[in-house]
Amino acid sequence: MPRVVGRAHPNGNACDMTLTVLGIESSCDDTSAAVVRRGSDGRGAILSNVVFGQADLHAGFGGVVPEIAARAHAERLDHCAEAALSRADVTLGGIDAIAVTAGPGLIGGVMAGVMFAKGLAAATLRPLIGVNHLAGHALTPRLTDGVGFPYLMLLASGGHCQFLLVEAADRFRRLGGTIDDAPGEAFDKVAKLLGLGQPGGPPVEEAARRGDPARFALPRPLLDRPGCDLSFSGLKTAVLRARDGALVDGALPAQARDDLCASFQRAVSETLAEKSRRALAEVAHLSPSCFAVAGGVAANTELREALGDVAGAVPMLAPPLALCTDNAAMIAWAGIERWDLGHRDGMDLGARPRWPLDSEAAPLIGSGRKGAKA
Ligand code: KG4
Ligand code: ZN
Repeated sequence: MPRVVGRAHPNGNACDMTLTVLGIESSCDDTSAAVVRRGSDGRGAILSNVVFGQADLHAGFGGVVPEIAARAHAERLDHCAEAALSRADVTLGGIDAIAVTAGPGLIGGVMAGVMFAKGLAAATLRPLIGVNHLAGHALTPRLTDGVGFPYLMLLASGGHCQFLLVEAADRFRRLGGTIDDAPGEAFDKVAKLLGLGQPGGPPVEEAARRGDPARFALPRPLLDRPGCDLSFSGLKTAVLRARDGALVDGALPAQARDDLCASFQRAVSETLAEKSRRALAEVAHLSPSCFAVAGGVAANTELREALGDVAGAVPMLAPPLALCTDNAAMIAWAGIERWDLGHRDGMDLGARPRWPLDSEAAPLIGSGRKGAKA
């Protein structure tokens, strides 16, 4: 049972114990296990965070292959958890609870993680806590910086794109999201159109540094509509048309490619910045403690600068990249937060391909290449 040694949590959660949680993540193409300890001061400490990426396994297929991903998770979860415990210098006996991503995501991978966590929970007689993967991302600023509720979060990755008002560890209000592709997906597809490598974000950003962002007039999707919803699929098509128009003797000159990257990146940054300005205005009366960004796309320097500009007086927070992208430390932390609220799961914990954080928000039409997650 958990050891009772602590006092009140600085951010308002009931917290009277030190808690050491093993987190498990396997919802897409990263197998991850982590040990996170919430200390008597209420703050989380990451004792280990092991991520076995699968990019090499999917490289030849132009995207994540669910069957290959599930198989790799099943084969690697035990090694991954062993490595996480060993790096944390903790034995299974020193773990108080097991937190696992129970959705949303690619169902084969989520099932592999949930089954593995159930086995561990049964063998160790420790409680099991099912975590929503998106809650893991959304609660990361509390793990890294101890921010208080409420705060605004923009989650922008290859699989997710949404604005969330985080009101409590189990209360999220979605202000808007993508109705088709996620922004990382758009970066990846544009990279493919322009003959750059995968994942597309880094090479597009690199090429954009040499390019002229004003050369190609690309659309700023959905800016003519009120609200914070986003769309990136039309932008990708506009890049395709611009590319075809810039061909010389059937080939794309390097300068045109760089200019196209710069124009595309500017369009994404300006669109996300304008939608962020609207989201911030919508929640201003609640005095959010910060505007946090997460997801692989948050690595983009031009985007970060554009978001920082619109944040104004609200502190902008971008957790370290390793904690912005998929990892199990965020799942362990979200498990700790759920524990504080009294949530526990049993052997009937299910794996959910879809699991919206805000069950009252209208469903979005799509939400990225990993399926309609939210
Ligand atoms: O969060 P993440 O590691 O995985 C999920 O999709 O969940 O995000 C990966 C995405 C990819 O689409 C990648 O192209 C994009 O993040 N990305 C970037 C940059 N680095 C990674 N996009 C724009 N600029 C970057 N520097
Ligand atoms: Zn994710």
